[in-house]
Amino acid sequence: MEIRFANAATPKTGALVLPVHDGRTLTETGRAVDAATGGTLARAMAASRFEGRKDQQLMVVAPAGVALTRVLLIGLGKPGDIDAGRLQSLGGQAVAALNAAGEKEATILLDAADAGKLGLAEAAAEAALGARLRAYRFDKYRTTEKPEKKPTLARLTVAATAAAKRAYGPREAVANGVVMARDLVSEPGNVIYPETLAEAAKGLKKDGVAVEVLDEKALKKLGMGTLLGVAQGSVRPPRVVVMQWNGGKRGEAPIAFVGKGVTFDTGGISIKPAGGMEDMKWDMAGSAVVIGLMKALAGRKAAVNAVGVVALVENMPGGSAQRPGDIVHSMSGQTVEVLNTDAEGRLILADACWYCQDRFKPKAMIDLATLTGAIIVSLGDVHAGLFANDDTLAARLADAGKAVGERLWRMPLDDAYDKQIDSDAADVKNIAGSRGGGSIIGAQFIQRFVNKVPWAHLDIAGVTWSKSDTAIVPKGATAFGLRLLDRFVADTYEK
Ligand code: BES
Ligand code: MN
Ligand code: ZN
Repeated sequence: MEIRFANAATPKTGALVLPVHDGRTLTETGRAVDAATGGTLARAMAASRFEGRKDQQLMVVAPAGVALTRVLLIGLGKPGDIDAGRLQSLGGQAVAALNAAGEKEATILLDAADAGKLGLAEAAAEAALGARLRAYRFDKYRTTEKPEKKPTLARLTVAATAAAKRAYGPREAVANGVVMARDLVSEPGNVIYPETLAEAAKGLKKDGVAVEVLDEKALKKLGMGTLLGVAQGSVRPPRVVVMQWNGGKRGEAPIAFVGKGVTFDTGGISIKPAGGMEDMKWDMAGSAVVIGLMKALAGRKAAVNAVGVVALVENMPGGSAQRPGDIVHSMSGQTVEVLNTDAEGRLILADACWYCQDRFKPKAMIDLATLTGAIIVSLGDVHAGLFANDDTLAARLADAGKAVGERLWRMPLDDAYDKQIDSDAADVKNIAGSRGGGSIIGAQFIQRFVNKVPWAHLDIAGVTWSKSDTAIVPKGATAFGLRLLDRFVADTYEK
C-alpha cells in the first residue's frame, strides 16, 4: 500500500474516509460532503447506531450525487479528547475496513477541527502512521491465498497541508523499524537463526549504523561463558551484534539497549512440552525490537548516541548441550549454576548486559526480553513487566509507554527475592528453589550482571505476539517496545 499526501480537497473517485465527532457531528468539511450527497451521510447516521464515538465506524456505499465508491465515517469522539492515538486508530481502522470491503483507493480527509491538541499536519501524519502500521502483513510464504482474501487497498492519500508530509518523515522512519522487527519476529526458526539474524542486523549499515558482529571465537575470548553454555547444544553458532548510532555529541555516553535473541527456545535438556512450542520462534523478539529501534533512530537521525547489543543463540537439546547442574563462568567473573536450561534468556543477558555496561559505560541500559511465562500470568497481554533499579528511569519509561499505547507495569525488585538465587555450589543459580514470583526472580538474576548503571528490564513475553487485530497492530508480531523506546529517547534525551 502506497501512502501519499496531497492538498486538502474532496476526492472525486475511490473511497473517502471522513472523521465524525461525538453526537454525529460533522465538521465543516464533512457537512460539505454531506451536502454534495443530498444529505445521505446524515440520514445514514440517523438510521444507525453510529454516534461518532471513538472507534465507531459506518460505511456508506455508493452515495448518490458523487462518483465516490463509498464514504467511511469514523468516530473520533469528543473534540477535546482527540490525541495522536485516536488519529492513528482512525488510519488503522480505515485500512482494515477498506481492505475488507475490497476498496482499491482511498482518501482520508481531515478538517482542522479533527486535529484536537495536535496541529493539522501532525494529525495527518499520525493517521498515516496508523494506516501504515495496520497495513503490515507477513504473507511471503502464502503462495495459494485466494485473491478475495488478499488486501486490495493499493493507494491511500491523506489530504492535508504540505507540512504533513514533513511531519510524517520521522514517523515513517519509526514505522520502517517496526516493519523490520515484525518481519524478523515472524520468520520461522529454520530461516532466522543467530547467523542470519546477525546478517539482517548488518543491513543497518545502509542506514548509517555501525555494526559489529562477534562470532564464537570472539565470545570465547571475551569469556562469555553463560551465553556460550546456552549456545553449545545447537549446531548453529551464537553471535553477539553491537550496533552504534552516533547522532549526539561526540564522546557523550550513549543510551544502551540490550535484546534477548533466542532464535528458537526448545528449553534445551529441560525441554518444553510439544504443545505450543512453535511460539518459541518469537523468543528473539527482544533482539528484533533492539535492531528495529536502531534502524528507527538512524532513520529519523535522532540527536542521541545509542548502542544496541543483541545476544543471539539457539537453545537446543543435543549431545553437546549443557546439563542441569552445570556450572559456567560469566564474563563478569561470577560463576553460575544452571539448574534449568530453559531459563536461558537470563543467562545470555547476563553476559550481554555485563559486556554492554563494561564497554560503553552507558547513561542508562534497558534490556528487552521474552523472559518468563510468569509475566503472562501476572499481566496478560495488556502490560509488559517493567523492572528497574532507578525510579526516574522507570517513570520515564512508563510515561513513554502510555504516550504510545505500549503500556508497562512496574514490578518489584528486592533483596528478599535476590537471596533466593544464591547457589550452594556457585555464586548464583539461574532459578529459585520455589515457584513463586518467577518474573521477579528472572529480573533479579539479570540485575546481578548490570553493575551500577541505571538499568531497566522489560519482560515482553505477554505482549510480543498478539492473537487478534487491534486498530494499529494486526495479529502476529507486534514489535512491542520499539515505539515506546523511540518515544523515551525523544522525550528524555532530545528535548
Ligand atoms: N522464552 C521463555 C519464556 C516464555 C514462555 C515466553 C512462554 C513466551 C511464552 C523462557 O526462556 C522460559 O522458558 N522461561 C521459563 C523460566 C523457568 C524455567 C524458570 C518459564 O517461564 O517457564
Ligand atoms: Mn526458555
Ligand atoms: Zn526463552
